[in-house]
Amino acid sequence: MSEQLAAEDVAHDAEFPELIEGLQTRRSGHNFDPEEDISDETLEALIEDAAIAPSSYNLQPWEFVAVQDDERLDEVVELAYGQEHIRDAGTAILVVGHTNAKTADAVFEDWVDAGRMDEETAQQTKAQTAEMYDDDGMGRDYAIRNASLAAENLMLSAHARGLTATPMIGFDQEGIAEFLGLPDDEIPVMLLAVGPSGGEEPDRLPRRSVDEILHRESY
Ligand SMILES: Cc1cc2nc3c(=O)[nH]c(=O)nc-3n(C[C@H](O)[C@H](O)[C@H](O)COP(=O)(O)O)c2cc1C
Repeated sequence: MSEQLAAEDVAHDAEFPELIEGLQTRRSGHNFDPEEDISDETLEALIEDAAIAPSSYNLQPWEFVAVQDDERLDEVVELAYGQEHIRDAGTAILVVGHTNAKTADAVFEDWVDAGRMDEETAQQTKAQTAEMYDDDGMGRDYAIRNASLAAENLMLSAHARGLTATPMIGFDQEGIAEFLGLPDDEIPVMLLAVGPSGGEEPDRLPRRSVDEILHRESY
């Protein structure tokens, strides 16, 4: 028998109930107020909140391209196969992911400066990370995993500020990369339509139950 004592099961009530309420009430809205846009301060606050998302080794392999000019928004609507709510939202933000560890030099210096890694470990980890990113397909996986978390943060921050942020992948990936001038080693991960709500949205569609999706110990 194991000598390890069994940990006690403890119920954890929400310490931040408003955070739970926020994620339970967030919606992908299609009804935006076309008369009202977001301020520069709000845009910057959303990006700040997005950038606090976790990322592999804190590499923060993401960029955000915000389009607010009316004519350019029209182009984005066209590239998104006519999704008109983007125009009404007033702001489209493309969340972009790095497919390589291009931030590694600066980030691993942070680990060393913070006393969380010695120089040798930092150099080794940096080399391993670069290798992993270079592995065929892995760079794309990293880009999507990391940038998707930033996108979710941005959506929750928008909701907390009384805004709607709708995630989309229904767009011409290559077309938008070209239109927005993305570098070759970065990919579009999620397009967000962000703006003040224009009113009611249809009821949320049901979610699959916990019983159905929670698998204990193995699938
Ligand atoms: C990866 C992904 C792609 C999506 N693509 C689109 C899209 O192209 N257009 C759109 O209007 N909504 C899109 N959505 C929003 C979903 O339709 C929405 O999240 C889902 O219906 C659940 O609704 P809720 O977010 O309001 O709970 C997308 C969501 C995700 C996560």
